[in-house]
Amino acid sequence: MTRFGPPARPAKNAPVAAPRQQKTIAMENASERLITGVSVGPLAALNVRSVERRASSAGRRGGIVAVMETWDAITSRRNVRRFADRAIGEDTLEQVLEAGRRAPSSRNWQPWDFVLVTDRDQLRELSKVWQGGGHVADSAATIALVVEDSDDRRTRETAQYDLGQTTMAMMIAAADQGIGSGHSAVADQAKAREVLGLPEDRRVAYLIDLGYPADRPLKPIRNPNRRPFDQVVHRGRW
Ligand SMILES: Cc1cc2nc3c(=O)[nH]c(=O)nc-3n(C[C@H](O)[C@H](O)[C@H](O)COP(=O)(O)O)c2cc1C
Repeated sequence: MTRFGPPARPAKNAPVAAPRQQKTIAMENASERLITGVSVGPLAALNVRSVERRASSAGRRGGIVAVMETWDAITSRRNVRRFADRAIGEDTLEQVLEAGRRAPSSRNWQPWDFVLVTDRDQLRELSKVWQGGGHVADSAATIALVVEDSDDRRTRETAQYDLGQTTMAMMIAAADQGIGSGHSAVADQAKAREVLGLPEDRRVAYLIDLGYPADRPLKPIRNPNRRPFDQVVHRGRW
């Protein structure tokens, strides 16, 4: 019978698990690009655990795989716009999609559908739906985020928030596998609908393109191009 509740305490003489090996990993600096070693403060305390894990999820078929820890995946993610000519395995793609499916949404309404595209001709056509989406053409796969084409402002705004959540979940899951990701807006809805065979009552909110980076592998970024922490974060009051 399945027991619920906190895990049972180990017996008194039970062997104690060996501490996981610590290692400092290479970091990337947005301006200097590649830096190795060194710890850089509380937010980037990158004495990161060794990353060998026994795979057990449906997306992986057993054996030892090199994967990132959550913090590495978060700090390594960046918008990738140049992709290597290398396919992404079906299991890995499904894991990324599953991360998106599990994302939270307002009242759990899950306003999204995902259309996965890997066909090169389709990717080339999709890359034309927005002037800033050229990188979609060379992606290994692109996920079109499809929502209902509502006129109601509140519905659209709520969907936007939820789409952000599912997007980030997929991007972190991709980064966890060393896969780069990017966004593209969609201006030409008629073309997007045609390429994807969507019904008239749906629109493509965004395209999320995926692929192994052609420029440099994903690594934790030491100094991301972001507003300073103390400017962004307010404690208690503005
Ligand atoms: C809502 C949204 C729309 C975006 N649209 C595009 C786009 O159409 N084309 C593009 O190349 N990048 C797009 N981006 C990516 C942003 O430019 C990128 O996240 C930002 O510059 C930070 O990049 P970084 O995380 O690599 O530092 C979009 C991002 C978001 C969140």
